[in-house]
Amino acid sequence: MSRLISFIVLLLTGRLTTDGAGSGLISKGWVATVQPIATQAGLEALKSGGNAVDAAIACALTLGVVDGHNSGIGGGCFMTLRLADGRVVTLDGRETAPARATKDMFLRDGKVEARISQDGALAVGIPGEMATLAYASRRFGRLPLRQLLEAAAQVADRGFAIDRQYANRLHSTRDQLASFPESAAIFIQGLPHNPKEGDRLRQADLAHSYRALATNGIDWFYKGTFAHDVGTWMKSHGGSVTAADFASYEMVSREPVRGTYRGYEIVSFPPPSSGGVHVIQILNLLEGFNLRAMGDSSADFVHVVTEAMKLAFADRAKWLGDPDFAPVPRGLLRKEYAGELAQRIRLDRASVVTEAGHPPQAETDVFSREQKRHTTHFSTADLEGNWVACTASLNTSFGSKVVVPGTGILLNNHMDDFSAQAGVPNYFGLVGGEANAIEARKRPLSSMSPTLVLKNGRPILSVGAAGGPTIISQTLLVILRTLDFGQSPREALAGIRFHHQWKPNELHVEKTLGKGVIKELQKRGHPLVVEDSLGAAQAVGLDAQGQLIGAADPRGQGSAAGL
Ligand code: DON
Repeated sequence: MSRLISFIVLLLTGRLTTDGAGSGLISKGWVATVQPIATQAGLEALKSGGNAVDAAIACALTLGVVDGHNSGIGGGCFMTLRLADGRVVTLDGRETAPARATKDMFLRDGKVEARISQDGALAVGIPGEMATLAYASRRFGRLPLRQLLEAAAQVADRGFAIDRQYANRLHSTRDQLASFPESAAIFIQGLPHNPKEGDRLRQADLAHSYRALATNGIDWFYKGTFAHDVGTWMKSHGGSVTAADFASYEMVSREPVRGTYRGYEIVSFPPPSSGGVHVIQILNLLEGFNLRAMGDSSADFVHVVTEAMKLAFADRAKWLGDPDFAPVPRGLLRKEYAGELAQRIRLDRASVVTEAGHPPQAETDVFSREQKRHTTHFSTADLEGNWVACTASLNTSFGSKVVVPGTGILLNNHMDDFSAQAGVPNYFGLVGGEANAIEARKRPLSSMSPTLVLKNGRPILSVGAAGGPTIISQTLLVILRTLDFGQSPREALAGIRFHHQWKPNELHVEKTLGKGVIKELQKRGHPLVVEDSLGAAQAVGLDAQGQLIGAADPRGQGSAAGL
């Protein structure tokens, strides 16, 4: 209650602003997440002397409680950080396949069986979010991790009112959750019969797990009780994950991918994300077009950007995978390669992209480990110059639906992000090949794209999104609207979204796109699918006066606030 009162006092005295209110009175930083309780947790971290990194960790841990169907410590994350001293760091907490995983583990009678890659024991990869948060805290944070764990544990213990999206996800996933007694006890029996927005969810076991981590440290998770309990459960439920898989999990600090667009620097997440590579590739493809003259959301704009998306997603299907296992060409990022591909874009009609391109030195100039020595995105920044973009995920709603008894921790289903069989689409309709085939200890390919935009070395935007492959399109569109159309983070997030991922050949557009534009796009040969809404992105950026400002996606119930 006292926290609520101090929040209201800050709001009334103008020392705290929410959503696009913008103010020179900000003294510490901004936070934007999909859930107001998580945004508030980020602000509390700033208020108690933490920096943007502590705020991001507080958001992640709290999202695992109040938005646990999307992300949590049973899943993975990618975190892109720009530190006050100018360094940029990308932390890869993506899940890995268990050591006993095999290429054809999801095939039954030669065919992919999606159910087993999406629900239950075999769907689970070794979670990397907790290793990432602990590393970020130790290296770049200011507050003790146990303080942030305890704050999130209190939310889990006390309970919280579920929002509309949470209630909807409970309804759509109810039957699958019901197959797992522990998950059913928490997410079905723990709530009234027909759960609705405002109902209270308490998660005592999750609170207990957070406190065990606070007391015993990260080893509790990777080498201690939790790893052991998961291993034991897996053994008796047909899984292949073992305690040894947890013990050998490694978060990887990678070199970010970098590009430029109209004089701005784009810094984003490298493989095993496809996000950074393709956001930069698409920006390279578009640099030769005068998008500003075309006008935001005009038929020409949507057409040209769609054509660029198709070319990039065709490359994704062929070339992208975990760089520690498959050769991923660095040439995908080259301006010359984009220039070559861009020649295939015609203004008057949709092209037919039949196959991937061939980036320069595709076999020899590759990303490698040696060169570096249903999801949520949140962004934070502080006035010292620390900026964070972090996307975290269990994959689809409630991940594998598995909670190992007593832990309260939902486990991910990220094994479904592998290509279970060449050319066979996964949950998101994405196809892949050898580069993203299942292998022991390999990371599944991701679209998560936590991205920073810099001008003269100074960050001006932190952005990313949830929504499978549409993450790439959403992140791209926010960047284009910021850089080409001079929009504020709030305007850029509100802008009409569209998405094309090469296969299937469908251009998904939000219904707010004008009828005239839709007709014109159909005339040019785009097979259109009209959607109510697409995705969920969050951003922190600068307003016209150069002041920090954040925004949450207006399509959702999230919030952004500064302190
Ligand atoms: O890593 C990826 O690309 C996906 N597993 C992200 C999943 C996601 O965004 C689900 N949200 N709707």
